[in-house]
Amino acid sequence: MDATWKGFFLLVILISLNFSISSCSTDIINSIRSVRDGETIVSSGGMFELGFFSPGNSKNRYVGIWYYGIPIKTIVWVANRESPLTNQAGVLKVMEPGLLVLVNDTAGEAVWSSKRSRSVQTPVAQLLDSGNLVLKDAEADDTEENYIWQTYDHPTDTYLPGMKFGWNFVTGAQVYLEAWKANDDPAPGEFTYDLELTGYPQVVLRRNTLEITRYGPWNGIFFSGFPDVRRNPAYSSDFVMDKNGVYYQEKLFDMSVVRRLTLNSSGVVQRLTWVNRTQTWEVYTNRPADNCDSYSHCGAYGICYIQNIPACSCLDRFVPKDSEGWIKTDWSNGCIRRTNLSCQGDGFIKYSKIKLPDAQNSWFNDAMTLKECAVECLKNCSCTAYTQLNISNGSGCIVWFGELVDIRSLSTDGQDIYIRMASSEIDSRVMKRRILIASLTSVMGMILLALILFLYIRKTNIDSTKDEQGGKYNESKDKELELPFFKVATILKATNCFSIENKLGEGGFGPVYKGMLEGGEEIAVKCLSRTSTQGIDEFKNEVIFIAKLQHRNLVRLLGCCIQKDENMLIYEYMPNKSLDIILFDETTSDLLDWPKRFHIINGIARGLLYLHQDSRLRIIHRDLKTSNILLDSDMNPKISDFGTARSFGGNETEAKTRRVVGTYGYMSPEYAVDGIFSAKSDVFSFGVLVLEIVSGKRNRGFSHSDHHLNLLGHAWTLYKEERSHEVAEAFLQNPQDLAQVIRLIHVGLLCVQKKPEDRPSMSSVVLMLGNEGTLPEAKQPGFFTEREPIVSQNSTTTHATNSTNQLTVTILDPR
Ligand SMILES: *[C@@H]1O[C@H](CO)[C@@H](O)[C@H](O)[C@H]1NC(C)=O
Ligand SMILES: *[C@@H]1O[C@H](CO)[C@@H](O)[C@H](O)[C@H]1NC(C)=O
Repeated sequence: MDATWKGFFLLVILISLNFSISSCSTDIINSIRSVRDGETIVSSGGMFELGFFSPGNSKNRYVGIWYYGIPIKTIVWVANRESPLTNQAGVLKVMEPGLLVLVNDTAGEAVWSSKRSRSVQTPVAQLLDSGNLVLKDAEADDTEENYIWQTYDHPTDTYLPGMKFGWNFVTGAQVYLEAWKANDDPAPGEFTYDLELTGYPQVVLRRNTLEITRYGPWNGIFFSGFPDVRRNPAYSSDFVMDKNGVYYQEKLFDMSVVRRLTLNSSGVVQRLTWVNRTQTWEVYTNRPADNCDSYSHCGAYGICYIQNIPACSCLDRFVPKDSEGWIKTDWSNGCIRRTNLSCQGDGFIKYSKIKLPDAQNSWFNDAMTLKECAVECLKNCSCTAYTQLNISNGSGCIVWFGELVDIRSLSTDGQDIYIRMASSEIDSRVMKRRILIASLTSVMGMILLALILFLYIRKTNIDSTKDEQGGKYNESKDKELELPFFKVATILKATNCFSIENKLGEGGFGPVYKGMLEGGEEIAVKCLSRTSTQGIDEFKNEVIFIAKLQHRNLVRLLGCCIQKDENMLIYEYMPNKSLDIILFDETTSDLLDWPKRFHIINGIARGLLYLHQDSRLRIIHRDLKTSNILLDSDMNPKISDFGTARSFGGNETEAKTRRVVGTYGYMSPEYAVDGIFSAKSDVFSFGVLVLEIVSGKRNRGFSHSDHHLNLLGHAWTLYKEERSHEVAEAFLQNPQDLAQVIRLIHVGLLCVQKKPEDRPSMSSVVLMLGNEGTLPEAKQPGFFTEREPIVSQNSTTTHATNSTNQLTVTILDPR
């Protein structure tokens, strides 16, 4: 009996306690109770707290809502994000007939206020355990219809479960996220994340007005491209579309799950959950996730594969619209059909595991089957694709009109789409033939390559036997045959996808890019432009010659990269670029003092001697000029560009060609006029180089107030008058060098003598440069005036080089 009474009293006490708690509960603001800076209210279950705060290092005061039980202060909503208080005199009040107002008590003015909707008798604001601050009549039930205002309708940068993200057609209001300006400034920043209603609704992340990323359409489970944890007992995700509105909504079943979606100030949409064990926010999705998430990254009918380098491809049966641009990784023009649609008789091809294209231009129907959907699409000639709308129950139809953009490959969570195709693309026999042709072409490419390599190996063997018999210089055969193949992906990675910042210039047969291999080795990548037909021969020439040659003063070929129509040569990188750039520029030529110039001339002579005599192939370069001399970090010269080089076999000493390839100002008379080339024509070019390096002036385009001679004529005139030093007067500072300078001018003049037989061989030149012996008298140089051979314009091919003044030309002998 006693016990029963005790229990009864306890119950009475408990009930009265409960009453007193609710009448002075801590989760409300009303006409009696306001919140001053320093005070807070906490939701009844202790989930959220509302009060004043200062973000980051800011001293400004804002009213906000944050998680009550989470030690890392995480703001989920801000009231006065654009109008901070600069003092601690803020008071948040509820006013009749139904407004929430933030007042600056010292100034006596309102700083922020909720939007007015309708009037109520006794307004009260209550912070719910969902994080929603609602304004309603004190007597009204706690249901959504009774809320006259709620923060869930006016989120800042955070979506909380329960919010209806999207559109309310009754009020016309939109619920969307707007990022903070910065971590210490909650004012609206550049990024917004919202549900857009053009075509089928999709979610779009924008930077100001620019579309950054798009997800959708909703496929019954998630927005295409933005999958979430599925079949979760703790919460659900739904997409609702009816006459009252269109919105996305999550619902929590397990209130202990703490989950939010936040658009951070750098424009990243993050899904996070609070992990009690580690006391951290765990980010389990970041969007945009990668480059493939950027809107229309690969253009129309392009598909983005994040694991590929480069990432963009055309969809199967589509080809780049601007193939030049596409190669240079400019994908903005996208792809076009290989075969145009004819409208009548078109069919569809299924593409799987993709993020569905932008549905701005689409039409849908909830009830149609997939078959009906195909029929619907075929009815309209501008319909380009269709698929199932709802993959969770296998129903519905969505069709696209016009170009398909913003497609990416998704190995998991991708969807199927059926893209309209001309009937010939679908006909299996045609398809097979196409595949056969395609594979034949690539097989033929491989055969061609194998043939080149085979011929080259054979030639090497013949040459080396010859050399062995002749008892000459011989290197290990195996070592010379090594020409590593680089993967396209490696090159793309190294050159940052041939970015414009990496471009070094235009070489003999196409652009040259700088790159860095994974190990840190710097490389130069020469691309063969596809438009150059002559380039292909020169490319092969270069591969065949330079792969075999190894000398300190020749640029080293590290490997090549051949794939379908991409041909690239990979060289060691020369940080000081080409000689002409440094030599003929007034600002940089000072860097080249006499010892450096002498060193460069010596290096070129050694490299050339190796080409002419010491290498097995015995090569004539034919296009020696300052822009083909590259300089490494120690200013060691390296001869480059073997595109026009020729090899001499056996006892051959000179040859004749109808195709004269070279550069004005460097070509010997017998070569430019008669097409006869020999080692001595290279010696002529070398002589020009020597005079240019000593004088710092170009032979071609040289001008002097006293005469109309070119640099050769000028040097020769001064030489005859024993005033050679005047050639170099511009830079010569050190009198001790004078004798050497005069000697080098003399050597240069010997090399440019008119008759080839008068010119020394490179081995003599190297000796002359080295010792102090007396030199023979130099005779008149060839081409010592500005006159040039007559060139027929239409047979002139020019190769753009770094320096516009040094054009390699091809002259076809008119005979
Ligand atoms: C936004 O989120 C991304 C991804 O987690 C992060 O790299 C970035 O630093 C965040 N920005 C800010 C301002 O916190
Ligand atoms: C085909 O679809 C386009 C885009 O919706 C529409 O403008 C056009 O009227 C349609 N044509 C026919 C014949 O239905």
